[in-house]
Amino acid sequence: MSMLRGSLAGLAMGIAALAATNSAPVTFNKDVLPILQKNCQGCHRPGELAPMSFLSYSETRPWAKAMKQAVVTKKMPPWFAEKGHFANDRTLTDDEISTVARWADNGAPEGDAKDKPAPLAFHDGWNIQPDLIVEMPKEFQVAASGTINYQNFLVKVTFPEDRWVVAAEMRPGNPKVVHHGRVIVRPPTSTWMAKAVPGEPYEEGSDGMGGARAGTDLLGKYNPGLGAQSFEVDGSAKFIPKGSDLVFNLHYTAVGTPQTDRSKVGLVFAKHPPKLRYWMSPGTPAAFNLVIPAGDSNAEVVSEVTIGVDGARLVYIQPHLHLRGKDYEIRLTYPTGETETIFKGVWDFNWQVGYQLAKPVPVPKGTKILAIAHYDNSINNKFNPDPTKTVWWGDQNWDEMQSGFLGLVVAADSDVNKIFIPSGPSLLPRGTTAGPSLASVGNAPTR
Ligand code: HEC
Repeated sequence: MSMLRGSLAGLAMGIAALAATNSAPVTFNKDVLPILQKNCQGCHRPGELAPMSFLSYSETRPWAKAMKQAVVTKKMPPWFAEKGHFANDRTLTDDEISTVARWADNGAPEGDAKDKPAPLAFHDGWNIQPDLIVEMPKEFQVAASGTINYQNFLVKVTFPEDRWVVAAEMRPGNPKVVHHGRVIVRPPTSTWMAKAVPGEPYEEGSDGMGGARAGTDLLGKYNPGLGAQSFEVDGSAKFIPKGSDLVFNLHYTAVGTPQTDRSKVGLVFAKHPPKLRYWMSPGTPAAFNLVIPAGDSNAEVVSEVTIGVDGARLVYIQPHLHLRGKDYEIRLTYPTGETETIFKGVWDFNWQVGYQLAKPVPVPKGTKILAIAHYDNSINNKFNPDPTKTVWWGDQNWDEMQSGFLGLVVAADSDVNKIFIPSGPSLLPRGTTAGPSLASVGNAPTR
């Protein structure tokens, strides 16, 4: 009897739900467009990464079935974190997924124009409204074929006064050939690239690249899908000392025809000097010594740094591996000995996502930050360029990296050169991390 009552109640609820659906059909203007604005238009609009725009009904309508498929399978929006909470999480809630699915199933109606939310404002393609745009002074000629090593360009800005930056966005001049890029602050105290002619390209190791990099800071970066970077956490901003110049570091890919590129960075300045400084590690911790044995389907590479200042908090994590990467974890070992995993995610080379921690994580002085990555160098990895090769650290996609960009906020007067003190396994000489022994994997290459 009670079972019958239960199922009757269930049936009644089912009918009620059906009635609700029927009385209020899901429409593009009322239900779907707000989701697209919040979770999709960052990439799905003209000039951005995705091949089609979801700004208007007429552009979106043909994709209704594909959208249902993409959100139900969680292929879209791309997001790979499995552990941790993130402010920039674009994943859809179950309700939102079901809204998109019901809309597609019911013939994808447009609905009433008065239900439409105001369109998002985009400023000439920028995701931010820059106060200053700095562009490479001239075009770089990108060869039609062959391997192109990383290129570095000194861009003379010579900031006339101290500047605090709350947001930055690097944009490729020619997205077809810019694989990824970085803009680095070179303070006047640094001798890095002192011999370089402004605007000219320099490869790593060439004459123009000499000098000490101390005090440099990563200002902005570009890779497909990354968007703009905000440096505002409890009022923090990124510091550009008076007299600084910028260095553009670009990785180009040949596409079969000669191309040119002039990339740029847009900056939004803080109104007042802040109490907190946002600092981004330029690719550390990093395991320059990694060795991934040929055929190994689960090689582990660990790198580590120790926090050397008081009061630092971790706010941003962006892993960086290449084609053999599988997963990435950030684990903290506190001075008390306690350990905690604050990020864990699957690695997908096609999507270089950055994760903004929902709550800054305090990392007291003496805390060890461990980055732990796994690699599949076996034949089962369809992206593997060559499963018969032992792999070392290197810039090109067929080499590997185990690196990351970590964002921290510290007191504005902290010595940024002391935030990360190299420690642990990544201090070992090149070629001594993974694998049974060096003898079985061959000699480390010299570069
Ligand atoms: C970070 C950028 C980004 C975001 C955010 C994003 N997309 Fe995409 N989307 C892409 C790119 C790039 C492609 C084409 C490459 C691909 O299919 O992997 C794509 C492809 C698609 C496709 C075609 C899939 C297929 O199998 O052919 C659909 C449908 C789609 N996106 C829907 C969405 C929806 C809906 C959202 C929001 C809920 C969304 N995307 C958010 C970048 C993005």
